[in-house]
Amino acid sequence: MSAQITLQPSGHVFHADDGESVLEAALREGYRLPYGCRNGTCGSCKGRVASGVVDHGKSQDTALPAAERAQGMALFCQAQPRSDLVIECREIGTVKDIPVKTLPCRVQSLELVAPDVMRIRLRLPAAERLQFLAGQYIDILLRDGTRRSLSLANPPHDDGLLELHLRNYGGPFSIHVFTQMKEKDILRFEGPLGTFYLRENSDKPVVLVAGGTGFAPIKAIIEHAIHHNIKRPLLLYRGARRAADLYLNELPLTWQREHGITYIPVLSDVTTEDAWNGRSGLVHEAVIADLPDLSGHDVYACGAPAMIDAARRDFLTRCGLPETAFYADAFTPAVP
Ligand code: FES
Repeated sequence: MSAQITLQPSGHVFHADDGESVLEAALREGYRLPYGCRNGTCGSCKGRVASGVVDHGKSQDTALPAAERAQGMALFCQAQPRSDLVIECREIGTVKDIPVKTLPCRVQSLELVAPDVMRIRLRLPAAERLQFLAGQYIDILLRDGTRRSLSLANPPHDDGLLELHLRNYGGPFSIHVFTQMKEKDILRFEGPLGTFYLRENSDKPVVLVAGGTGFAPIKAIIEHAIHHNIKRPLLLYRGARRAADLYLNELPLTWQREHGITYIPVLSDVTTEDAWNGRSGLVHEAVIADLPDLSGHDVYACGAPAMIDAARRDFLTRCGLPETAFYADAFTPAVP
């Protein structure tokens, strides 16, 4: 039997199925409550049960002392409703509500998905989870004090492993990953970072423009939108040099087939070897050719700075896109 849960002060209402914690139910229905470990030890998900009864599950005394429990506090990652509930808990509205952490992680797998693109999956310590918004990035902290920013390619609901897509540009971190890194290596990172995430308070159609490994955060955003059944039309324009650079191409084809997402791959350096009969040229020019009026759209673009700059300039000046409807994440070089 499902329980109705009312969130205060927002008044949002959601439902928990049997065996579900309050946090699991809230996240499933798209309400962002704060969390950290998701196993009852860190206290990040603590809030008050204003009315109703919960089973506290495996809440640890260190995170939820008996005195707090007696006052009606609960760890929502553990608490399961035993009746309808009214709970008091802050909701994450923007990235500034999400704590930025520095964490160790282990390389779980390395997969070459294009001649020069590595898909890296990272495992966090058992007692840690990373809360983030789809589209944000992390900084890998390197031993020499530099950082390498990489977008998270997995959506927040699928956070068992963190997924990164790294193109080999010949920098020290790329060379290390492509020549020496192996499974079980330990890395440290800081995150989540950045303000590139889907604004869900709009109902405009969304144009997503991904260049190269800019596909990573766009993948996270699309998988987040599918998981939460977001009904806005999604149009993905994906730029690459050659057909071989369209890594993980079965994914957008599946999104198109099963979820009605429009997928337009565009190659910039196509040759006869590619046997390509799709679109060619600059990816943002393909958007302009199809959608000369962008005044009613939101645009999310991720890729090389030159692509972002050209897209911003031309969408604003030629297509009537309001500046406030253009969201972008440009690749940046490693910083000390
Ligand atoms: S998320 Fe850490 S105790 Fe609930």
